[in-house]
Amino acid sequence: MSLETAPGNLRSARWFAPDDLRSFGHRSRLKQLGYDEADFADRPVIAILNTWSDVNPCHGHFRARADEVRRGVLQAGGFPLEMPALSLAEPFQKPSTMLYRNLLAMETEELLRSYPVDGAVLMGGCDKTTPGLVMGAASVDLPCVFLPAGPMLRGRWRGGELGSGTDSWRYWADRRAGVISDCEWREIEGGIARSNGHCMTMGTASTMTSAVETLGLALSGSASIPAVDSAHSRMAAASGRTAVELVERDQRPSHLLTAASFRNAVVAVLALGGSTNAVIHLVAMANRFGIPLSLDDFDELSRQVPVLADIRPAGRFLMEDFANAGGLPGLLSRVSELLDVSCRTISGGTLADGIAGARVYDDDVIRDRDNPLSAEGGLAVLRGNLAPRGCVIKHSAADPELLRHTGPAVVFADYNDLAARVDSPDLDVDADSVLVLRNAGPRGGPGMPEWGMLPIPKRLLEQGVRDMVRISDARMSGTSYGTCVLHVAPESAAGGPLALVRDGDPVRLDVPARRLDLLVDEEELERRRHDWSPPPPRVHRGYGALFHEHVTQADEGCDLDFLARPGAVAEPEIH
Ligand code: FES
Ligand code: MG
Repeated sequence: MSLETAPGNLRSARWFAPDDLRSFGHRSRLKQLGYDEADFADRPVIAILNTWSDVNPCHGHFRARADEVRRGVLQAGGFPLEMPALSLAEPFQKPSTMLYRNLLAMETEELLRSYPVDGAVLMGGCDKTTPGLVMGAASVDLPCVFLPAGPMLRGRWRGGELGSGTDSWRYWADRRAGVISDCEWREIEGGIARSNGHCMTMGTASTMTSAVETLGLALSGSASIPAVDSAHSRMAAASGRTAVELVERDQRPSHLLTAASFRNAVVAVLALGGSTNAVIHLVAMANRFGIPLSLDDFDELSRQVPVLADIRPAGRFLMEDFANAGGLPGLLSRVSELLDVSCRTISGGTLADGIAGARVYDDDVIRDRDNPLSAEGGLAVLRGNLAPRGCVIKHSAADPELLRHTGPAVVFADYNDLAARVDSPDLDVDADSVLVLRNAGPRGGPGMPEWGMLPIPKRLLEQGVRDMVRISDARMSGTSYGTCVLHVAPESAAGGPLALVRDGDPVRLDVPARRLDLLVDEEELERRRHDWSPPPPRVHRGYGALFHEHVTQADEGCDLDFLARPGAVAEPEIH
């Protein structure tokens, strides 16, 4: 049970209430901002952490939404203070927003800790912003509501629909093949992203906001609402009101979340046919709560949970269709016996309350249990001498013929080597080869970029080859497909066995047996290990160096080791 927080016991009262010189300073500076005691005295201070930025189209509506959150906070008797936080914009940031997820988590934690804040609304949605905000909020453990940015409208082109990511690749292949003209390509460029909001396929954004709603940290139904729907504005105001209520009930994330909440989130991700990136993010988030969640939990649940959401890239529809079909509560109502619905949520009730009365209005978009998109979840976790700490494959998106395959390795030292040689006519490769990319992991990339869907060599494409076994320590976009073994841990730059593979070595993939092995004898591997030395770090100073020195491996969520450490950081001293 949580305790009621009396006004005088508010955390912010430590800043504003005392009759001393420091508090005089705090109050006089609020007055400088135009606020009076009527605004702030004895009112819960709600930080609106806004990841708006001119360079983030996924969050382009967040300026207006922050005002709507503010309205909700005021309605409930709170004092809203909007604070900008690092905007991680997937379409622009190089080498990968993943490099900066932990920086946003640090910023979130330290903003909330160091300022007079009682609770927060976390505004995110574009891929890494969701886990970044939640990881930071977990570590500071103040009452908080996550406000999902919501998907953009459907893409449109010549009477048809376009989906973020998935259809860019499809039509890019057509353009390379000369099937569509430059003029048509430019039309697609203008039609694929028609409004503010995050990607409207089941990429990492929709996967993670749905996971956080299932965890109970966002309002029920909020993750599915399109960004520009007026319902999104009303949800923003409701999120503001809820944040004040959470402070009044002193209901912190750690009071709500359990191992069962995280298993529920994994079930949701699997039933959605969600992004492989969710494995890394959910493990990192659970770690911050001190809750054990391992790759094996994903593999175990994946064998039980059917894919019911018929959304691209795995299926046909887009997020707007999903919202109309009943959204996440509709989907969860169809897997409710696989969920622990007694888990508590920010509503003050349980997940069962959140999905009570939920209905599915379109069985094509949210499939019936008798007619799933696939009977099993799409993720498998493999181990073997090539991935002692595990790796991940989205086997639902792979050629079934390749799920048991042995072939000779074709090794690329890094992404530049891949780009330089993959289309070379001299490359010794055929359809049975296994393409291996190393130095694309958390340290090697750096930041584990989404390079895991290695391109098929052009020569083979021309022969009609459309899928091959590909192995790397990289990630892959939630909108990608193919027989791509990802997140190999430990990564090659950290001395993982991927570093020891040589051209021609036989590699055996056996997804049914959950194995990935390099068929080279142990003595030879030991010799190679002895001769191996780590590649020099690509970055020598600043945040990149900090990241390189402290990032954990994919199976541990790629957090920074000093952030993942258990134990709270003390509240700041008053003076
Ligand atoms: Fe922001 Fe896809 S680019 S969610
Ligand atoms: Mg993405």
